[in-house]
Amino acid sequence: MAAKELVFSGVQPTGNLHLGNYLGAIVNFVKLQDTHNCIYCVVDLHAITVWQDPAELTRTIREVTAAFIASGIDPKKHIVFNQSQVSEHAELAWVFNCVARLGWLNRMTQFKEKAGKDRENASVGLYAYPNLMAADILVYRATHVPVGEDQKQHLELARDIAQKFNNDFSDSIRAHDFGEKFFPMPEPLITGPATRVMSLRDGTKKMSKSDPSDYSRINLTDDADSIAQKVRKAKTDPEPLPSEEEGLKNRPEADNLVGIYAALSGQSRPDVLREFGGGQFSGFKSTLVDLAVSKLGPIGAEMKKLTQDTAYVDAVLADGADRARVIASETMNAVKDIVGLIRKK
Ligand code: TYM
Repeated sequence: MAAKELVFSGVQPTGNLHLGNYLGAIVNFVKLQDTHNCIYCVVDLHAITVWQDPAELTRTIREVTAAFIASGIDPKKHIVFNQSQVSEHAELAWVFNCVARLGWLNRMTQFKEKAGKDRENASVGLYAYPNLMAADILVYRATHVPVGEDQKQHLELARDIAQKFNNDFSDSIRAHDFGEKFFPMPEPLITGPATRVMSLRDGTKKMSKSDPSDYSRINLTDDADSIAQKVRKAKTDPEPLPSEEEGLKNRPEADNLVGIYAALSGQSRPDVLREFGGGQFSGFKSTLVDLAVSKLGPIGAEMKKLTQDTAYVDAVLADGADRARVIASETMNAVKDIVGLIRKK
C-alpha cells in the first residue's frame, strides 16, 4: 500500500439501498479494504438536506451501517461511522462555504435535478451539499474516493475546493510547515462494469432510491420472490441478446441487464455476451434471477439480523466515530492555524 493513500466514501441514509448503490459503490468499498486504509461514512447530515422523518432516519442510519457490514466491510480493521458524530465535517464545510464560489455550485447538475422547478423552495443545505461532501473527504485528507458515476461532478468540485484552499492560503501553509500543499487532490475511483445502474423500467433513467416505482430497482432487502418478479418484469426489447458489445448500442435496457449480470458474476461484459449472445431474454433473465438471489439473498438476510441488534450497530458507529474524530480533529486544528483562527492549545 502506498504510504499515505487513504480511501473515503459515503452513502446517504435515505430510503432503500438498491443494486445501484451496491454495484456502483459498496462492492468497490469491500475490495479496497485489502489494499488501503478505508473510512466509510453514513452521511446523515447530507440526508437532512431534504426533510426526513426522524424515526425513519434513525432506522435507515442503522440499515446502511448493517448493509456495509453485511456486504463484507470490516468495521474493526477499517472505520465505519455516521457523519453527525464527528462535528469536524460540519466545521470544515463552513470554511469551504467560504472558499467555494457561487458560480461553481450553480453548475451542479444534481442540485438542479433535486431542486426541480421550485428552486426557491429548496433548502440552503441542498445547495451547499457539495461543500459538505468536499469536507467529508478532505477532513481526512483522503486521496481516493470510490463512487458511482453520478458523483463525478461533486468530486471535481472537491478537487477545485482543495486547490483553491491550497492557493489562497499558500503562504500560511508554508509558514506552518505543512509543505507546499495542505490538501491532496482526491481521486474518484469509478470502476467496474456497473458504475451507472439504470432503472429496470426505463433504461435511460438512473436506478434511484426516490423512483416512485419499486419495480424500477432491486433493494438490498428484497426477498427472493421480489427479486425474481422484478427481474422478470424488467423492460427489454424484442431482439435477442447480441454477441458483441457493439450490438448493445441504442439498447439501454439490454445494456443495463448485461452490466448488472457482469458486475454480479465478476465477469466482463464481453464474457457475458459470449455466453448469452444470440439467446432470448427469458433464458438470460432466469439465470440472472438465480445469480442475483444467490448474491443478494445472504446480504439482505444478514442486514435484517443486524438491524435488529441496534446496540451492536450503535456501538460500531460510536467506536468508528471515536477513531475518525482523532484524524478529523487534527486536520481541523491545522485548518484553523492556517486560516488564522485562534484555538485552545
Ligand atoms: P448516494 O447515497 O446517492 O449513493 C451512494 C453511492 O451509490 C452510488 N450510486 C450508484 N452507482 C451506480 N448506479 C446507480 N444507479 C447508483 N446510485 C447511486 C453513488 O454514486 C454513491 O457512490 N453524495 C453522495 C454521498 C456522499 C459521499 C461523500 C460520497 C456524501 N459525502 C463523500 C463520497 C465521498 C451520495 O448522495 O451518494
